[in-house]
Amino acid sequence: AQPDTTVYHERWRPQVHFSPKAHWTNDPNGMVYSNGTYHLFFQYFPGGTTWGPMHWGHTISKDLIHWQEQPVALYPDSLGYIFSGSAVADVHNTSGFGKGGKTPLVAIYTNHDPKGEHDGKNDFQNQSIAYSLDEGKTWTKYSGNPVLKNPGIRDFRDPKVNWVETVKKWIMTLATQDHITFFSSPDLKNWTKESEFGKTLGAHGGVWECPDLLAFDHQGKKVWVLIVNINPGGPNKGSATQYFTGDFDGHTFTPGDSITKWIDYGADEYAGITWSNTGKRHVFLGWMSNWMYANEVPTKTWRNAMTIPRELSLVKENGHFYVSSLPVKELQASATTVSRRTNLKANGDVYMCTAPLYLTMKADELKDFTMSFHYGAGAELVIGFDKASNTWFIDRTTTGEHGFNKEFAARHTAPRIATGKGLELTLVVDETSVEMFADHGVITMTDIFFPNAPLQKISITADKELLIRQWQLSKLKSIWK
Ligand code: FRU
Repeated sequence: AQPDTTVYHERWRPQVHFSPKAHWTNDPNGMVYSNGTYHLFFQYFPGGTTWGPMHWGHTISKDLIHWQEQPVALYPDSLGYIFSGSAVADVHNTSGFGKGGKTPLVAIYTNHDPKGEHDGKNDFQNQSIAYSLDEGKTWTKYSGNPVLKNPGIRDFRDPKVNWVETVKKWIMTLATQDHITFFSSPDLKNWTKESEFGKTLGAHGGVWECPDLLAFDHQGKKVWVLIVNINPGGPNKGSATQYFTGDFDGHTFTPGDSITKWIDYGADEYAGITWSNTGKRHVFLGWMSNWMYANEVPTKTWRNAMTIPRELSLVKENGHFYVSSLPVKELQASATTVSRRTNLKANGDVYMCTAPLYLTMKADELKDFTMSFHYGAGAELVIGFDKASNTWFIDRTTTGEHGFNKEFAARHTAPRIATGKGLELTLVVDETSVEMFADHGVITMTDIFFPNAPLQKISITADKELLIRQWQLSKLKSIWK
């Protein structure tokens, strides 16, 4: 089915980000690449625009940018709601679900039993599996569910499963309250506990949720990254995505340092994880909201959207590994350049523009600057860098509607981690969101906002010495047209 163009043009509807046609969404789930198609499942409540009994919604894309929503993939069952999890292409048919040479897609998710939530046993979240032999169109739940029973831990959820070649097993990374527990399996059905990680490391201002484990090649050596979402306790309050860098030997994760690192410092990237079966490419996508106010944001027919898919890579700053995020290159295919300039003194410049847009800016030396996005009637979104405190910031205090929650109107900051001298910035600005990728993505910040008028122009106030080497402003085509 082609996207319905009347629906996707309501007020505040993201134009370059996936949001379901109607109703509530939270976490991305089961992201898997199979036969040229990117699958994105998502926490979905088809019965309303606030969180409710969870289903897995489903959407597909050939290019990570244009999405075609599919029928709901997984419905609640006798074991409970369908909470977050992952999916893999079981190419060696280790599960035995494959028939007639067909590779099964296997979804591994949490069954959350709302009836068991208050019986004191704390064992109401269990891991289950389902498989599809028709590229995700229809799913069969395994008769032996749950495949991993809860020993009595209140928060026991969000399995992310990867094939780990060194041990030739599936490894499940599971969020277990205030730490991660790793399990292994030869067949996705029988799981053995391997180890625990993180009780005394990282941020602990809230519950650990939605983890991911991935490996990068760095100068011939593998460096492992363990992603752990946490709610609340993020650097700018509420939900956020932290990560650890280190080593995983197939059994145990050993951190390389004790620094608390964040994939995204903004208020509105959460539950982010990566696609399975993309080879060496690591494509990350998060939910573009925050549990502080996700149920209250002022959209009417749908609630919440996903971030732009981001390519992750590993960089070293000050002797430590960090993950950098940048919008996937596929986004640029729908960009038309409207202004390209070199060697300009930025201070005082004004650019007329509309959303959605894609902007890149480079300078040899990073100095104070403030970029204001004007929405009419004095409303603006302000982003920039403050040299005195060495911080990046996004300020949405006056960007539009914020009365729905007292935490919403705020200025968010992120420390500068990169040690280079230069300025390098990429921005993706949609109708109701900004994603800022600073210092080649080492610092990323995502914020949503609800302006009452369309974007009109950008103005820059900067240190008089700031010389922009390259400036490129592009218009992005709506993905729903
Ligand atoms: C994270 C989360 C997950 C859970 C899901 C429920 O946002 O709380 O831990 O599986 O949402 O919808």
